[in-house]
Amino acid sequence: MTGLFLVLFMWVHMFMVSSILLGADAMHFVTRLFEGEPIFGRRIPLLVSLIAAIVLLVFVVHALAAIRKIPASYAEYRAFRRHMSGFPHADTALWMLQVVTGFVLMFLAAAHLYQMLLHPADIGPYASSDRVWSGRWWPLYLVLLFAVELHAGVGIYRLAIKWGWFADRHGNMNRRRLTQIKWALTAFFLTLGLLTLAAYMKIGYEHRDNAGERYVPASETALYAEPPRR
Ligand code: HEM
Repeated sequence: MTGLFLVLFMWVHMFMVSSILLGADAMHFVTRLFEGEPIFGRRIPLLVSLIAAIVLLVFVVHALAAIRKIPASYAEYRAFRRHMSGFPHADTALWMLQVVTGFVLMFLAAAHLYQMLLHPADIGPYASSDRVWSGRWWPLYLVLLFAVELHAGVGIYRLAIKWGWFADRHGNMNRRRLTQIKWALTAFFLTLGLLTLAAYMKIGYEHRDNAGERYVPASETALYAEPPRR
């Protein structure tokens, strides 16, 4: 269940973060939305921390449940390798990919979640782009993106097999079809993620001399403009 929650969260997250592809104003709008401005009439970044805390909690529970299944000693690992060569099935190799990407995620996602949890107000077209470029977060995001999309793709595929989604009335699964859907999803979110990261890097690079300055949409700059002289 924790895995399904995390995959669904990542899909929503990627669509929200990629709002930057529609322009700075679109991302600014999404940021304000998550800070509850349309409902409470003011920005409450603590709401972002709250979401980050929930995601972190689910992430830790998910990792604890998964760690038990990883070979804990060299002997166990050898046994698994023997098993793997005895049953040369693609799904066994996918499981190994899950272990490796899951291990990477434990470090990189934790760093990202810590940042979001404690600096929830530092999100926005310039704030995010400055972090990605001037704050040198882009190498972390690049690796995190591949790890999370591969992990989520394999994860949702395994859930589909486990819970018999798309099974025919005899309970048979079309693994070939499911594998195609899985790779299509991974390819889609990887492409969207790479384009999104490139957009943040570009804005961050162009804004590097003014890093730290916040984005103010054109509709709001009018509020700060001097009143016309009489
Ligand atoms: C509530 C929790 C989260 C929030 C509020 C959040 C928010 C954000 C924001 C605003 C960005 C844009 C860059 C920036 O501002 O630094 C971003 C990027 C990213 N986040 Fe998250 N995130 C959360 C959880 C996660 C988790 C759990 C993962 C993966 C396990 C993740 C993976 C990524 C990746 C890979 C990027 C780079 C996007 C790209 O390459 O297109 N995020 N996130």
